[in-house]
Amino acid sequence: MSSPGFAKKSKIKQTVLDALVKASGSFVSGTRVSAELGMSRAAVWKQIEILRKEGYSVSSKPRIGYCLTGVPDRFYPFEVKRLLKAEIMGSEIDYFDSLGSTNDETMKRAVEGAPEGTVVIAEEQTKGKGRLGRAWISPKYQGIWFSIVLRPEVLPAETGLITLAVAVAVARAVKQETGLDVEIKWPNDLLIKGKKVAGILTEMSSEQDKVHFMVVGVGINANVDPGSFPGELRATATSLREQLGRDVNRVRLLCSVLNELESSYRSFREKRSDEIVRDWKELSSTLGKKVEVKILDRIFVGVAGDIDEGGQLIIRMPDGELISVSAGEITYLR
Ligand code: BTN
Repeated sequence: MSSPGFAKKSKIKQTVLDALVKASGSFVSGTRVSAELGMSRAAVWKQIEILRKEGYSVSSKPRIGYCLTGVPDRFYPFEVKRLLKAEIMGSEIDYFDSLGSTNDETMKRAVEGAPEGTVVIAEEQTKGKGRLGRAWISPKYQGIWFSIVLRPEVLPAETGLITLAVAVAVARAVKQETGLDVEIKWPNDLLIKGKKVAGILTEMSSEQDKVHFMVVGVGINANVDPGSFPGELRATATSLREQLGRDVNRVRLLCSVLNELESSYRSFREKRSDEIVRDWKELSSTLGKKVEVKILDRIFVGVAGDIDEGGQLIIRMPDGELISVSAGEITYLR
């Protein structure tokens, strides 16, 4: 854990970085920075070296000073906060270079009382979790792997819509940042051209009539090299980089997701379920499709007719019977 000495050093670095950012691409004099910040020129230079090691590009000219020429695509809280417009999402940001699972860490923080909107983000996960007990491949610096604490005042039975609301936010953010059309496969798979590009894992602590908190984990295969997917996933998974033929800026995309999430979450919290359902339907590829539904060891085949205001999928069976499905997995049939 960080010591007071560490916090002080990181504050000094932050102050130097702030001065460089404020100059927005112009040179700032080392003498002026050191005078304004009340530190020696050697101390300023030391901080510049630290920033360079963290991936910032800073050019320096003798007797003129320093100029920030590039920022790294890393989820440093300072970089994220700079682009964030949300009030709830990102109220606190905990950043890790490597973590087992951001969902596990966030669950722990939520139990300890972390405020709503706390984001835990990691550059890599070594034990990333997918739905239905599957692993989620989360290679370093290639994706967006984060979880968020939510504390809505809703009943456990009303929580089904949150995953749909988050899926809408992710699809919109990807469209904004890349121009790519993302479709949602019920309940929460995000697909591009039929291949999975992102997923959502929602966990919750509740009792019969009360939700203590929810943790929503989002994984986006942003710049994942398709070679990183294990053999069995290559045919079904993709990344934004694979689709675009170039890298995406992960920090910008994360901020865009959090900004979108803010408005989707407000709809959820204020129980405007009709809005969430309408937005989800606009982006979903599921309705009207013949599907196979697997729930534990039972399999049904029917047509995905609709979703109800709780986010349940309504399947029309061949004999006309309607069944509602709240969890499980569907496969599109031809
Ligand atoms: C799925 O579609 O199976 C859900 C995938 C969810 C993955 C994300 S990555 C960040 C968060 N931490 C985890 O361990 N899982 C979720």
